[in-house]
Amino acid sequence: MLKNKTEEFEKIEEKLGESQETEKKPSWIKMKPKEVEELVVKLAREGNSPAKIGLILRDKHGIPKVKLLGRKVEKILKSTNVKYITEKVEIEKKITNKTKAILVVHNYGNICDMEPIVKIAKKNNIYLIEDVAEAPFTKYKGKSAGTFGDLGCFSFQATKTITTGEGGAVITDNPELEKKMRKIRSHGLSARGRYWHDEIGYNFRLTNVQAAIGVAQLEKLDIILQNKKRIYDLYKKNLSGIDGIAFQKITHGSEPIIWAVAVKINQEKFRVSRDEMIDKLLEKNIETRPGFYPFHAMPLYNTDVLPMADEISKNIISLPSFAALKDEEIEYICSSLKSFMK
Ligand SMILES: Cc1ncc(COP(=O)(O)O)c(C=O)c1O
Repeated sequence: MLKNKTEEFEKIEEKLGESQETEKKPSWIKMKPKEVEELVVKLAREGNSPAKIGLILRDKHGIPKVKLLGRKVEKILKSTNVKYITEKVEIEKKITNKTKAILVVHNYGNICDMEPIVKIAKKNNIYLIEDVAEAPFTKYKGKSAGTFGDLGCFSFQATKTITTGEGGAVITDNPELEKKMRKIRSHGLSARGRYWHDEIGYNFRLTNVQAAIGVAQLEKLDIILQNKKRIYDLYKKNLSGIDGIAFQKITHGSEPIIWAVAVKINQEKFRVSRDEMIDKLLEKNIETRPGFYPFHAMPLYNTDVLPMADEISKNIISLPSFAALKDEEIEYICSSLKSFMK
C-alpha cells in the first residue's frame, strides 16, 4: 500500500486505463475499507459506472480488495459488505420471487431514469411505485413524474413544491388499485354500506379545508414553478464551476422542477465541516439541511452498505429553496457558503 493517497489513486487509475485499453486480465489490489470507498466514489464521480470500476470483494481475512475490470466487462458489483448500487442492471439482479414492487424515489426534484426501470418492472411483472414527494411537475421525455408507475405518490407537506399544510395524493390508472386505495383511506368500509368494515383501513382523507388550499396552490402553480426555476438558475449561476461544490446530476431527457437545491461539498475545500457549516449558516439566519441518511445507516433496515449513498449523504447541504426566496437572499446564501472556503 502506498503511503500517499494521491499516488495510490494514480497508480490504480493507471492500471484501470491499461486494463481498459488492452482488456488485460484484471488484477487484485488490497485496500482498507475506507480507501475502497474513496476510490469507488472518486472513480464514480468521474463518470465511471460500477461495471467499469470493478469488483469489490472481501478476501478470506475480511479485507476488502478491488478487482479492476476492462471497459467492456459488464459484471455486476458483487460484494459481501461493501457495495455500490445505482445501476439499473442492479435493480434486476435484486429481484427475487418474493419481490412485489420497485419503489423509486425522485430525489430533490430530479427524476430517475424511468425508461429502463419501467421495462424491468414490466418484464418481471411487478408493481412500480414512484415516490414523487420531491418531484411533482418534473417531466421525463415529455411525461410527468408519477405517471410511469402503477402508483405515483405525492406529498403536500409544508415544505413541498405545492402544499396543503400536510397530506398528499396517490395517482393511478389502475381501477382496481384505485378502488383498494379509496377503501383503505376511509377506514376499510365495505361496499355493503355505511359502518360495515371488511378490511383494515385508516383515515387518510384530505380535509375540505386542505383541498381548498390545494386548489388555491394550483391556481398559482405557474408562478410557483417559475420561481423554482429562477431559484435553481440563480444558485447555479453563483455556485457552479466552483471546485468543492457540485450540483445534483440531472437525468438525461428530463425537465426537472428542483424542489430543493442540494449541493454536494468537498469538505476538504472548506475550513469547516458540513455540520459546522449548517450551524454557522444558521447563525447568519440561513436554515439549511443535511443530506438524507442512506438506508444502511439505520439499523432498522438492515441493508447492504452503499458507500456511494453514504458519501453523498455526508456531504450534502440542502439550501433554502422556497418559492418566495428573493434573488438578493440567494446571493447572500451563496456568498455566505463561499466564505467558508479555504
Ligand atoms: C422523498 C420523500 N418521500 C416521502 C416523504 C413523506 O411525505 P409526507 O410527509 O407527506 O408523508 C417525503 C418528505 O416529507 C419525501 O421527501
